[in-house]
Amino acid sequence: MSTSDISKALAEHYAASFEAHGASPRGVDWGSNPQEHLLRLDRMLAVTQRGTPAGSSTSLLDVGCGFGSLLDRSLAIGLPLVYTGIDICEPMVEAARQRHPNARWMASDILTAPTRDQHDYVVCNGILTQKLGASIRDMDQFLKALVRQMFSLCKVGIAFNVMTSHVNFTAPNLYYRNPAELLAWCMSEISTKVILDHAYPLFEYTVYIYREDAPGMQYGLHHTGGAA
Ligand SMILES: C[S@@+](CC[C@H](N)C(=O)[O-])C[C@H]1O[C@@H](n2cnc3c(N)ncnc32)[C@H](O)[C@@H]1O
Repeated sequence: MSTSDISKALAEHYAASFEAHGASPRGVDWGSNPQEHLLRLDRMLAVTQRGTPAGSSTSLLDVGCGFGSLLDRSLAIGLPLVYTGIDICEPMVEAARQRHPNARWMASDILTAPTRDQHDYVVCNGILTQKLGASIRDMDQFLKALVRQMFSLCKVGIAFNVMTSHVNFTAPNLYYRNPAELLAWCMSEISTKVILDHAYPLFEYTVYIYREDAPGMQYGLHHTGGAA
């Protein structure tokens, strides 16, 4: 299955779950527990802790934004963002636009989106979960294309989550990725400035990848002691 076929299958899948369950974790088919959803959203927003250049506001692109839950969460916790949401599922984007008319929304496949606008941060909560009818190998290619595209649109860094291969059962419709292998790929292909958070109580992990020149990455910044 090509990356565009996977995107199309995902668009149909999420349109159906949104029609059935509306603006809720079940509507985006990403668990049914609102607390787990909040935990995932907070893992995404943690990417911004690196900060942005002094005096500028923080811009964030939310890839696979659904009905806009990440924007809800950032407003609830008082994190100011210049927010843009993009999602391939048009009914989802329409609902997001109605809920937050002042934010910027795009209905498009992120892999073929016409925009080349750059944002401080680019995040993706949940696209890499359902594999539906795709093979694991096809999903691996889809993941690589998605991560490359996200990184090309960021000025500081990106965050995305994936289900871990460290589970005690697997479902045939879901995509699980070995964290050590993914870490190695990110470091060799994208940037060496990577954090992999596998330490929260869900069967998944969040990967943060920063540009080599992102705030706080300069050599020697934290090393203030001299040789004895
Ligand atoms: C699991 S849902 C998560 C939605 C939202 N991030 C949230 O946490 O509430 C995944 C979303 O990714 C969107 N999506 C899947 N493939 C996409 C693609 N290629 N480009 C843009 N959005 C995509 C789906 O339509 C769906 O709304």
